[in-house]
Amino acid sequence: MRIVVTGGSGRLGRTVVSTLARADHEVVSADRAPAPDVADGVREVAVDLTDHDATVDLFEKERPEAVVHLAAIAVPFSAPEDVILRTNTAMAWNVLEAAPAAGATRILAASSPTVIGYGAPHGWSPARLPLDETHPVAPWNAYSLSKLVIEETVAMAARRDGERVRYGVFRPCFVVSPEEWSGAPTQQGHTIAHRLAHPEDAAVSLFNYIDARDAAEFVEAWLAGADTVPNGTTFFVGADDALADAPLAELLPRFLPGSETAAAALRGDAPAFSSRLAADLLGWRPRRRWRDELATATPTDTTPTESSRA
Ligand SMILES: NC(=O)c1ccc[n+]([C@@H]2O[C@H](COP(=O)([O-])OP(=O)(O)OC[C@H]3O[C@@H](n4cnc5c(N)ncnc54)[C@H](O)[C@@H]3O)[C@@H](O)[C@H]2O)c1
Repeated sequence: MRIVVTGGSGRLGRTVVSTLARADHEVVSADRAPAPDVADGVREVAVDLTDHDATVDLFEKERPEAVVHLAAIAVPFSAPEDVILRTNTAMAWNVLEAAPAAGATRILAASSPTVIGYGAPHGWSPARLPLDETHPVAPWNAYSLSKLVIEETVAMAARRDGERVRYGVFRPCFVVSPEEWSGAPTQQGHTIAHRLAHPEDAAVSLFNYIDARDAAEFVEAWLAGADTVPNGTTFFVGADDALADAPLAELLPRFLPGSETAAAALRGDAPAFSSRLAADLLGWRPRRRWRDELATATPTDTTPTESSRA
């Protein structure tokens, strides 16, 4: 397939484009920034996807069969709230309008588990655990709101285009790229070892994570199976275990008072998010677990960076 991946230079995008290229797809990475290294078989195109006309030009020129839309301001509060909302929703609109108009028939967009609403400053409680795609959403900041708008934009496009175009949404958990198992800083600036030693850091996202290679394999599975699942389906994409040294039945109530009863449903190292829908509908399962990855990683310098100290 000829596939355009937006945000292909990013933390998740780099692994997605290299995985798809290795599977012999023709891959174009559309990003406003170049990647540090470009994988074999990946062609880069520089584009600002908030620019409507530039986005139309991109898709008219590339004419991909499939699009994986990852480009975003991906960290909550990393820019002014109005900028995050405008940027993320404008890019999604432009891509979801221009790509099908230029003939794309498979379009998968990245949302986020944050749409669920955990971490809200005035409290949040899970309706039940583990969290699945039927759990109510309750965004409380511009990032999570932008992701909910993206989910609704996908649903709108599916209604607009009918079965001619297959749409999907995935909510990747906290993405760990391969070098981060060896000590490179994560999206939050600290290392995985630090995150495990300081459960308060992982508690903000309910100890969720996904290895970027597993997320990329989900993208492959969705592209292969999109015809077989209901159009517009949203999937959680998380690891089969929690990023924690202790069971969540013990840990969650410490950080989420009142969650004792719901958390008791999580046995052993079970995560707070269920990816069962992706297993049932697409046959995708995460293959990496943090204990194995840390045990086999070659440690590099794990000295905290300035940003991780901040
Ligand atoms: N990393 C995570 O833990 C995580 C978790 C949940 C959801 N997500 C979502 O997954 C996607 C990828 O996340 P990531 O961690 O790789 O993010 P990232 O910040 O590493 O990459 C995002 C990419 O988008 C590009 N981009 C931003 N604005 C652009 C614009 N105007 N035009 C063109 N390109 C632009 C950036 O240059 C960057 O390469 C995002 O949509 C993010 O919201 C990520």
